[in-house]
Amino acid sequence: MDMLHLNSPAEAERWCSEQRDLRKAIGFVPTMGSLHKGHLSLVDRACQENDACCVSIFINPLQFEDPEDFKAYPRDTESDLAQLKAHGCDMVFMGNLNQFFPEVSDGDEIETLPAGHHGAGLEERFRPGHLDGVRTIVERLFRTVGRSRVYFGEKDFQQTLVVSDLAREIGYPEVVVCPTVREDSGLALSSRNVLLDAEEKSQAQLIYPALLAAYDAWSTGERDPEILSAAMIKHLDHDGLMVEYAEVRDPYNWTPQLPVTPLERAQALIAVRIGSVRLIDNLRLDQ
Ligand code: PAJ
Repeated sequence: MDMLHLNSPAEAERWCSEQRDLRKAIGFVPTMGSLHKGHLSLVDRACQENDACCVSIFINPLQFEDPEDFKAYPRDTESDLAQLKAHGCDMVFMGNLNQFFPEVSDGDEIETLPAGHHGAGLEERFRPGHLDGVRTIVERLFRTVGRSRVYFGEKDFQQTLVVSDLAREIGYPEVVVCPTVREDSGLALSSRNVLLDAEEKSQAQLIYPALLAAYDAWSTGERDPEILSAAMIKHLDHDGLMVEYAEVRDPYNWTPQLPVTPLERAQALIAVRIGSVRLIDNLRLDQ
């Protein structure tokens, strides 16, 4: 079957509703395009675990607190469509802000909704409003696709917590969190990696070893959040690499700040800036 390419959320909503009428389970992967193997791993799972698979491509301006970052965000629709087709996607949809928010008149500002409990700290500290923007568009995407399974990457860990809260709040979809896909060097795949030159890329390759340092410390019994953080920061000490955060959190008991008591479970999370490129990654330490 050929892949269907729709240019509005309204058409996508109709298609999804038809699939449900045919008793087909829908797997959905929301993306901002510039697809790589990380995205495609989600598409593969959505296709395998459901009868119909759909993908959205929309670079959501509401989640870019920096207009330069929005402008520089890589775009490659032709390659995206070819890859989605090759991976068995049934329907891809796009749209613009007016189509996603038809109730807002042209020129009026779209108000974002608060990301909630899991939106506090870490990303919020360095990208204020970013997760509010994510929550706001993802709610529209969830309502467009309706009851379904939706696939997110663990790479954006705090995002998975925020969208899981949202899904619980509105009663659907089922959120499936999938493992981070990495290069052989350990560097997590990211659409932003193409913006790195060779020297910057070698600096980006320090992120995963830093996460592994926290993992090793945890494995030898270290539970102190300050010491786990320090183990990561030591590995990130390099000219040209600016650490925004390298911290741990209890993934089941989110705190905006670094916890002060020893942890029973831990997710290590890192955000760095290399030149104008911001990269994030994370690793579960207790599994
Ligand atoms: P985007 O950055 O395009 O990512 C789309 C999905 O791919 C997200 O769930 C992200 O976590 C996942 N992903 C990215 N890199 C990955 C990797 N290396 N391994 C596994 N999964 C990976 O995240 C967004 O878009 C947006 O915020 C969005 C949810 C679409 C809302 O606008």
